[in-house]
Amino acid sequence: VKVLLDTPAIAQRVHELGVQLTRDYRGRRPVLIGLLKGSFVFLADLIRQIDLPLEIDFLALASYRAGTTPGELRVLKDVGTDVEGRDVLIVEDICDTGHSLAAACRLLAGRRPASLRVCILLDKPSRRQVAFQPDYVGFEIPDRFVVGYGLDRAECHRNLPYIAVVEEPGQGQAG
Ligand code: IMP
Ligand code: MG
Repeated sequence: VKVLLDTPAIAQRVHELGVQLTRDYRGRRPVLIGLLKGSFVFLADLIRQIDLPLEIDFLALASYRAGTTPGELRVLKDVGTDVEGRDVLIVEDICDTGHSLAAACRLLAGRRPASLRVCILLDKPSRRQVAFQPDYVGFEIPDRFVVGYGLDRAECHRNLPYIAVVEEPGQGQAG
């Protein structure tokens, strides 16, 4: 793996997002909803940079695979919070095609929250298949598969304390 974003760069940006969220949600008590599993590291660090009373919950959606209809939604684990009338902030590790976040927003918007916004650590805008614009973005990255800081490839590498690009054998330098 090759480091794309190192630990201090991530910490600095997560701090900045926390400062911005503290300002934007001043006087309110937002519910931060992490999409499982990838968001758990980002969510854990982000809430410690937000100086407000807040709640957290988690939502797990089935991932889309070849043969399934994109945009079709299956809830693997629902939130336990009644979000009606609440200020909901969805927290996700990465936005790629946009299908997962669009589906999560549709689901939660149907429950009539007072407000609904999305905060992502990483954005790959060049990969979008559905129009989706997150409200808070940590970093825009190129169209490369990344791991670490909660992100996995085949459930591996979530524990790396930085974000790295996976280099396939045969790519890059010979030998
Ligand atoms: P979507 O394509 O925007 O719906 O993203 C769905 C999910 O794909 C994300 O929540 C991640 O779990 C996963 N994903 C997309 N790109 C990457 C990546 O570069 N590394 C690891 N997981 C990714
Ligand atoms: Mg994910």
